[in-house]
Amino acid sequence: MEVVRTIEPVRGAVKAAKRAGKRVGLVPTMGALHIGHVALIKRAVEDCGFVVVSIFVNPTQFGPGEDFENYPRPIEADLEICEKAGAHLVFNPPPEVMYGAESVTWVTVEKLTEPLCGRSRPGHFRGVTTICAKLFNIVQPDVAYFGQKDAQQAIVIKRMVVDLNMPLQIVVCPTVRQPDGLALSSRNKYLTDQQRKEAAKIYKSLAKCRELREAGVTDTKQIIAAVHEILRQIHGGQIEYAEIVDAETLEKVDQIKGKVLAAVAVKLGPARLIDNILL
Ligand code: PAJ
Repeated sequence: MEVVRTIEPVRGAVKAAKRAGKRVGLVPTMGALHIGHVALIKRAVEDCGFVVVSIFVNPTQFGPGEDFENYPRPIEADLEICEKAGAHLVFNPPPEVMYGAESVTWVTVEKLTEPLCGRSRPGHFRGVTTICAKLFNIVQPDVAYFGQKDAQQAIVIKRMVVDLNMPLQIVVCPTVRQPDGLALSSRNKYLTDQQRKEAAKIYKSLAKCRELREAGVTDTKQIIAAVHEILRQIHGGQIEYAEIVDAETLEKVDQIKGKVLAAVAVKLGPARLIDNILL
Protein backbone atom coordinates (compact mmCIF):
# COMPACT_ATOMS: atom_id res chain seq x y z
CA MET A 1 0.00 0.00 0.00
CA GLU A 2 1.31 3.40 -0.97
CA VAL A 3 0.73 6.55 1.12
CA VAL A 4 0.89 9.93 -0.60
CA ARG A 5 0.29 13.51 0.52
CA THR A 6 0.13 15.36 -2.79
CA ILE A 7 -2.10 15.23 -5.87
CA GLU A 8 0.28 14.27 -8.68
CA PRO A 9 1.19 10.79 -7.38
CA VAL A 10 -2.52 10.03 -6.95
CA ARG A 11 -3.16 10.91 -10.58
CA GLY A 12 -0.16 8.82 -11.66
CA ALA A 13 -1.17 5.74 -9.68
CA VAL A 14 -4.79 5.92 -10.85
CA LYS A 15 -3.73 6.38 -14.47
CA ALA A 16 -1.52 3.28 -14.22
CA ALA A 17 -4.34 1.27 -12.60
CA LYS A 18 -6.80 2.31 -15.32
CA ARG A 19 -4.27 1.50 -18.04
CA ALA A 20 -4.02 -1.98 -16.50
CA GLY A 21 -7.79 -2.28 -16.93
CA LYS A 22 -8.58 -1.94 -13.23
CA ARG A 23 -11.76 -0.45 -11.85
CA VAL A 24 -10.91 2.36 -9.43
CA GLY A 25 -12.79 2.76 -6.15
CA LEU A 26 -12.57 5.70 -3.73
CA VAL A 27 -13.48 5.68 -0.04
CA PRO A 28 -13.45 9.26 1.28
CA THR A 29 -12.90 9.50 5.07
CA MET A 30 -11.77 11.90 7.75
CA GLY A 31 -9.74 9.15 9.46
CA ALA A 32 -10.10 7.88 13.05
CA LEU A 33 -11.10 4.75 11.21
CA HIS A 34 -13.39 2.12 12.74
CA ILE A 35 -15.14 -1.00 11.49
CA GLY A 36 -17.76 1.12 9.71
CA HIS A 37 -15.03 2.58 7.51
CA VAL A 38 -13.44 -0.87 7.16
CA ALA A 39 -16.71 -2.23 5.77
CA LEU A 40 -16.62 0.47 3.06
CA ILE A 41 -12.99 -0.28 2.18
CA LYS A 42 -13.64 -4.03 2.06
CA ARG A 43 -16.67 -3.52 -0.18
CA ALA A 44 -14.52 -1.36 -2.47
CA VAL A 45 -11.81 -4.05 -2.55
CA GLU A 46 -14.44 -6.64 -3.53
CA ASP A 47 -15.66 -4.47 -6.42
CA CYS A 48 -12.49 -2.76 -7.64
CA GLY A 49 -8.94 -3.69 -8.66
CA PHE A 50 -7.55 -0.45 -7.26
CA VAL A 51 -8.85 1.16 -4.08
CA VAL A 52 -7.95 4.65 -2.88
CA VAL A 53 -8.79 5.71 0.68
CA SER A 54 -8.62 9.44 1.37
CA ILE A 55 -7.96 10.60 4.93
CA PHE A 56 -8.52 14.31 5.35
CA VAL A 57 -10.17 16.19 8.21
CA ASN A 58 -11.93 18.72 6.02
CA PRO A 59 -11.96 22.14 7.72
CA THR A 60 -14.70 23.59 5.49
CA GLN A 61 -17.38 21.20 6.74
CA PHE A 62 -16.92 22.19 10.40
CA GLY A 63 -18.77 25.23 11.74
CA PRO A 64 -17.37 27.72 14.27
CA GLY A 65 -17.32 26.11 17.71
CA GLU A 66 -17.50 22.58 16.28
CA ASP A 67 -14.88 19.90 16.89
CA PHE A 68 -12.42 20.51 14.01
CA GLU A 69 -9.46 21.09 16.35
CA ASN A 70 -10.29 18.15 18.59
CA TYR A 71 -11.24 15.70 15.85
CA PRO A 72 -9.09 12.57 16.43
CA ARG A 73 -6.19 12.12 13.99
CA PRO A 74 -4.55 8.74 14.76
CA ILE A 75 -2.82 8.51 11.38
CA GLU A 76 -0.48 5.59 12.14
CA ALA A 77 -3.34 3.37 13.35
CA ASP A 78 -5.45 4.48 10.36
CA LEU A 79 -2.76 3.48 7.87
CA GLU A 80 -2.50 0.05 9.47
CA ILE A 81 -6.28 -0.37 9.20
CA CYS A 82 -6.25 0.64 5.52
CA GLU A 83 -3.44 -1.79 4.76
CA LYS A 84 -5.20 -4.67 6.54
CA ALA A 85 -8.47 -3.90 4.76
CA GLY A 86 -6.71 -4.19 1.40
CA ALA A 87 -6.49 -0.56 0.22
CA HIS A 88 -3.92 0.10 -2.49
CA LEU A 89 -3.34 3.82 -1.99
CA VAL A 90 -3.97 6.23 0.87
CA PHE A 91 -4.25 9.91 0.00
CA ASN A 92 -3.56 11.92 3.17
CA PRO A 93 -3.06 15.52 2.09
CA PRO A 94 -2.21 18.41 4.41
CA PRO A 95 -4.79 21.25 4.34
CA GLU A 96 -2.66 23.43 2.02
CA VAL A 97 -2.77 20.76 -0.70
CA MET A 98 -6.56 20.65 -0.68
CA TYR A 99 -7.16 24.37 -0.16
CA GLY A 100 -4.02 25.99 -1.56
CA ALA A 101 -4.52 29.51 -2.77
CA GLU A 102 -7.57 31.25 -1.41
CA SER A 103 -10.38 29.18 -2.90
CA VAL A 104 -13.50 31.05 -3.99
CA THR A 105 -15.30 28.17 -5.67
CA TRP A 106 -17.91 26.09 -3.88
CA VAL A 107 -20.27 23.29 -4.82
CA THR A 108 -23.68 23.81 -3.28
CA VAL A 109 -26.61 21.41 -3.38
CA GLU A 110 -29.83 23.23 -2.57
CA LYS A 111 -33.02 21.99 -0.89
CA LEU A 112 -31.71 18.58 0.21
CA THR A 113 -29.20 20.32 2.48
CA GLU A 114 -31.79 22.43 4.31
CA PRO A 115 -33.61 19.95 6.62
CA LEU A 116 -32.23 17.61 9.33
CA CYS A 117 -28.50 18.26 9.92
CA GLY A 118 -28.56 21.26 7.55
CA ARG A 119 -30.66 23.20 10.02
CA SER A 120 -28.14 23.15 12.85
CA ARG A 121 -24.98 23.00 10.73
CA PRO A 122 -25.17 25.82 8.17
CA GLY A 123 -22.41 25.48 5.59
CA HIS A 124 -21.65 21.89 6.59
CA PHE A 125 -22.93 20.25 3.42
CA ARG A 126 -21.34 22.92 1.24
CA GLY A 127 -18.01 21.84 2.75
CA VAL A 128 -18.82 18.17 2.19
CA THR A 129 -19.91 18.55 -1.43
CA THR A 130 -16.96 20.80 -2.26
CA ILE A 131 -14.37 18.42 -0.79
CA CYS A 132 -16.03 15.39 -2.40
CA ALA A 133 -16.13 17.14 -5.80
CA LYS A 134 -12.42 17.94 -5.38
CA LEU A 135 -11.61 14.33 -4.38
CA PHE A 136 -13.64 13.00 -7.33
CA ASN A 137 -11.69 15.32 -9.66
CA ILE A 138 -8.33 14.33 -8.19
CA VAL A 139 -8.89 10.56 -8.04
CA GLN A 140 -11.38 10.20 -10.91
CA PRO A 141 -12.78 6.96 -9.49
CA ASP A 142 -15.27 4.73 -11.26
CA VAL A 143 -17.07 4.23 -7.95
CA ALA A 144 -17.11 6.03 -4.60
CA TYR A 145 -18.37 4.46 -1.39
CA PHE A 146 -20.39 6.16 1.33
CA GLY A 147 -22.14 4.94 4.49
CA GLN A 148 -25.87 4.92 5.17
CA LYS A 149 -24.89 6.14 8.67
CA ASP A 150 -24.72 9.65 7.17
CA ALA A 151 -27.91 9.25 5.14
CA GLN A 152 -28.39 12.91 4.26
CA GLN A 153 -24.76 13.20 3.15
CA ALA A 154 -25.14 10.18 0.86
CA ILE A 155 -28.34 11.60 -0.67
CA VAL A 156 -26.73 15.00 -1.20
CA ILE A 157 -23.63 13.49 -2.84
CA LYS A 158 -25.72 11.28 -5.11
CA ARG A 159 -27.67 14.32 -6.23
CA MET A 160 -24.51 16.36 -6.86
CA VAL A 161 -23.17 13.56 -9.07
CA VAL A 162 -26.41 13.43 -11.08
CA ASP A 163 -26.86 17.19 -11.38
CA LEU A 164 -23.24 17.86 -12.39
CA ASN A 165 -22.95 14.78 -14.68
CA MET A 166 -19.97 13.45 -12.77
CA PRO A 167 -18.83 10.20 -14.40
CA LEU A 168 -18.86 7.91 -11.38
CA GLN A 169 -21.18 5.64 -9.47
CA ILE A 170 -22.05 6.18 -5.81
CA VAL A 171 -22.50 3.06 -3.67
CA VAL A 172 -24.11 3.43 -0.25
CA CYS A 173 -23.20 0.70 2.28
CA PRO A 174 -25.24 -0.34 5.34
CA THR A 175 -24.59 1.18 8.77
CA VAL A 176 -22.24 -0.91 10.91
CA ARG A 177 -23.33 -1.08 14.55
CA GLN A 178 -21.97 -2.27 17.87
CA PRO A 179 -23.72 -5.20 19.57
CA ASP A 180 -26.04 -2.86 21.52
CA GLY A 181 -27.04 -1.11 18.30
CA LEU A 182 -24.95 2.07 18.58
CA ALA A 183 -23.71 3.05 15.13
CA LEU A 184 -19.92 3.19 14.89
CA SER A 185 -18.69 6.78 14.68
CA SER A 186 -15.34 8.48 15.12
CA ARG A 187 -17.16 10.81 17.52
CA ASN A 188 -18.07 7.95 19.90
CA LYS A 189 -14.50 8.43 21.19
CA TYR A 190 -15.71 11.62 22.90
CA LEU A 191 -18.13 9.70 25.16
CA THR A 192 -17.50 8.66 28.76
CA ASP A 193 -18.36 5.04 29.65
CA GLN A 194 -21.65 6.21 31.12
CA GLN A 195 -22.54 8.33 28.07
CA ARG A 196 -21.55 5.43 25.82
CA LYS A 197 -24.13 3.26 27.60
CA GLU A 198 -26.79 5.96 27.33
CA ALA A 199 -26.06 6.38 23.61
CA ALA A 200 -27.46 2.91 22.89
CA LYS A 201 -30.92 4.40 23.40
CA ILE A 202 -30.54 6.21 20.08
CA TYR A 203 -30.76 2.96 18.17
CA LYS A 204 -33.39 1.71 20.59
CA SER A 205 -35.59 4.63 19.51
CA LEU A 206 -35.11 3.74 15.84
CA ALA A 207 -35.85 0.08 16.54
CA LYS A 208 -39.11 1.26 18.13
CA CYS A 209 -39.90 3.07 14.87
CA ARG A 210 -39.45 -0.11 12.92
CA GLU A 211 -41.53 -2.07 15.43
CA LEU A 212 -44.45 0.38 15.17
CA ARG A 213 -44.21 0.53 11.38
CA GLU A 214 -44.23 -3.26 11.18
CA ALA A 215 -47.28 -3.31 13.46
CA GLY A 216 -49.04 -1.23 10.79
CA VAL A 217 -48.74 2.27 12.26
CA THR A 218 -48.42 4.86 9.48
CA ASP A 219 -49.07 8.07 11.43
CA THR A 220 -45.63 9.63 11.81
CA LYS A 221 -46.71 11.86 14.72
CA GLN A 222 -47.51 8.77 16.74
CA ILE A 223 -44.19 7.13 15.83
CA ILE A 224 -42.14 10.26 16.56
CA ALA A 225 -43.83 10.60 19.95
CA ALA A 226 -42.63 7.09 20.82
CA VAL A 227 -39.13 7.94 19.58
CA HIS A 228 -39.03 11.09 21.72
CA GLU A 229 -40.13 9.12 24.75
CA ILE A 230 -37.07 6.87 24.44
CA LEU A 231 -34.64 9.67 23.51
CA ARG A 232 -35.78 11.71 26.51
CA GLN A 233 -34.48 8.92 28.73
CA ILE A 234 -30.91 9.56 27.59
CA HIS A 235 -29.30 10.98 30.70
CA GLY A 236 -27.59 14.26 29.80
CA GLY A 237 -28.82 14.02 26.21
CA GLN A 238 -30.36 16.84 24.20
CA ILE A 239 -32.58 15.90 21.27
CA GLU A 240 -31.71 17.98 18.20
CA TYR A 241 -34.20 16.35 15.86
CA ALA A 242 -36.22 13.18 15.40
CA GLU A 243 -38.02 13.09 12.08
CA ILE A 244 -39.57 10.83 9.51
CA VAL A 245 -38.90 12.11 6.01
CA ASP A 246 -39.25 10.93 2.42
CA ALA A 247 -36.14 8.83 1.68
CA GLU A 248 -35.44 10.71 -1.55
CA THR A 249 -36.62 14.29 -1.10
CA LEU A 250 -36.07 14.46 2.69
CA GLU A 251 -39.41 16.24 3.02
CA LYS A 252 -41.45 15.61 6.16
CA VAL A 253 -44.08 12.89 5.85
CA ASP A 254 -47.37 12.75 7.79
CA GLN A 255 -48.51 9.31 6.71
CA ILE A 256 -46.01 6.64 5.70
CA LYS A 257 -46.71 5.31 2.22
CA GLY A 258 -43.45 4.82 0.31
CA LYS A 259 -39.85 4.55 1.47
CA VAL A 260 -39.07 6.83 4.40
CA LEU A 261 -36.06 7.65 6.51
CA ALA A 262 -36.36 7.86 10.28
CA ALA A 263 -33.48 10.09 11.38
CA VAL A 264 -32.36 11.39 14.75
CA ALA A 265 -29.64 13.65 16.11
CA VAL A 266 -28.78 13.88 19.80
CA LYS A 267 -26.19 15.95 21.61
CA LEU A 268 -24.57 13.97 24.39
CA GLY A 269 -21.73 15.62 26.29
CA PRO A 270 -19.19 16.83 23.74
CA ALA A 271 -20.55 14.58 21.00
CA ARG A 272 -23.28 15.18 18.46
CA LEU A 273 -24.54 11.75 17.44
CA ILE A 274 -26.70 10.99 14.40
CA ASP A 275 -28.37 7.79 13.28
CA ASN A 276 -31.15 6.66 10.96
CA ILE A 277 -32.96 3.69 9.53
CA LEU A 278 -34.81 3.23 6.25
CA LEU A 279 -38.41 2.08 6.61
P1 PAJ B 1 -16.27 10.14 8.00
O1 PAJ B 1 -17.16 10.58 9.10
O2 PAJ B 1 -14.88 9.74 8.30
O3 PAJ B 1 -16.99 8.97 7.26
C1 PAJ B 1 -16.44 8.40 6.08
C2 PAJ B 1 -17.47 7.45 5.49
O4 PAJ B 1 -17.71 6.38 6.42
C3 PAJ B 1 -18.83 8.13 5.26
O5 PAJ B 1 -19.35 7.75 4.01
C4 PAJ B 1 -19.66 7.61 6.41
O6 PAJ B 1 -21.05 7.56 6.12
C5 PAJ B 1 -19.09 6.22 6.57
N1 PAJ B 1 -19.40 5.68 7.92
C6 PAJ B 1 -19.17 6.26 9.12
N2 PAJ B 1 -19.64 5.51 10.13
C7 PAJ B 1 -20.19 4.41 9.55
C8 PAJ B 1 -20.86 3.26 10.06
N3 PAJ B 1 -21.06 3.06 11.35
N4 PAJ B 1 -21.30 2.33 9.17
C9 PAJ B 1 -21.12 2.52 7.83
N5 PAJ B 1 -20.48 3.59 7.29
C10 PAJ B 1 -20.04 4.52 8.13
O7 PAJ B 1 -18.34 11.37 6.24
C11 PAJ B 1 -17.23 11.87 6.25
O8 PAJ B 1 -16.16 11.32 6.89
C12 PAJ B 1 -16.91 13.18 5.53
O9 PAJ B 1 -18.04 13.98 5.52
C13 PAJ B 1 -16.37 12.95 4.09
C14 PAJ B 1 -17.42 12.27 3.20
C15 PAJ B 1 -15.09 12.15 4.11
C16 PAJ B 1 -16.06 14.34 3.44
O10 PAJ B 1 -15.12 15.02 4.19
